[in-house]
Amino acid sequence: MNIKNKTILVTGAGSGIGRELVLRLLEKGAKIVALDIREASLQELKKSVGKKADRLSTHVVDISDKRAVESLPKDIALEHGSVDAIVNNAGIIQPFVRVNDLDYEAIEKVMNINFFGTLYMVKTFLPLLLARPEAYIVNVSSMGGFLPVSGQSVYGASKAAVKLLTEGLFAELKGTNVHVSVVFPGATATNITENSGLKESKLQASDSKNQSFVMLPASEAARLIIEGIEKNKPQIYLGKDSKLMSILYRLSPVFATNLIAKQMKSLLPK
Ligand SMILES: NC(=O)c1ccc[n+]([C@@H]2O[C@H](COP(=O)([O-])OP(=O)(O)OC[C@H]3O[C@@H](n4cnc5c(N)ncnc54)[C@H](O)[C@@H]3O)[C@@H](O)[C@H]2O)c1
Repeated sequence: MNIKNKTILVTGAGSGIGRELVLRLLEKGAKIVALDIREASLQELKKSVGKKADRLSTHVVDISDKRAVESLPKDIALEHGSVDAIVNNAGIIQPFVRVNDLDYEAIEKVMNINFFGTLYMVKTFLPLLLARPEAYIVNVSSMGGFLPVSGQSVYGASKAAVKLLTEGLFAELKGTNVHVSVVFPGATATNITENSGLKESKLQASDSKNQSFVMLPASEAARLIIEGIEKNKPQIYLGKDSKLMSILYRLSPVFATNLIAKQMKSLLPK
């Protein structure tokens, strides 16, 4: 899909990959509807784009609040008219513990934001997208959505649900005006741990000391997502880790699972 002059909604726009997406999409001449749960980050975003702010509206919304999501089209219509694309990028990780030690409150929070939040956005906007000449749904899953990562099992389950939902939408919407992409980021340098209300994990601490392990910059993640949208790619893998593990997991799921489990073992609580 050509980006110029399209109205594109991005969730989780206040930070990380979402913020970088907004900056690049504005550069390419899109009008942006930026959504986040954190008002301060949206205000900072608006300030940082200078004159382009006249093509940007910001909306403080918790995507896991179905009613708030359902009232969005009305609010957006006042400023932009219709929306041509939605990028469901907002998400959180879970506390870095085994399922046995994860309480239901944390489990429901992750499922409500990552899976139900994405679903509410899709259900709310799909009828409107079907009425556009050309439209797009991009859902951000994760490498952890196709490959088990110990200490992030429920996060992985929420992202696997996003993966299958999106692949199902791709199949259902074939032959319509609505393109669909699922995104699988590998390790990307953002503040997701802090933004998920968690302290730095042992994994992150070890990553920052391990010079050989380079996370993908969020700006590069955004560039690759936009390239995928421009090429109507059904699946967008971000980073070498995501690409390699997707091949390894298909060749030998047990080997790939054991490999990651071994790496995670020392990082989990005893
Ligand atoms: N960073 C990584 O290594 C990585 C890896 C795989 C997948 N992902 C996925 O990429 C996406 C973007 O993550 P990021 O790394 O840029 O994280 P981030 O924390 O930098 O950005 C996520 C944004 O989503 C917002 N958000 C959280 N809950 C929300 C809610 N209920 N309603 C509205 N907004 C909400 C946050 O306030 C934040 O601004 C997420 O879906 C994440 O799961 C990230």
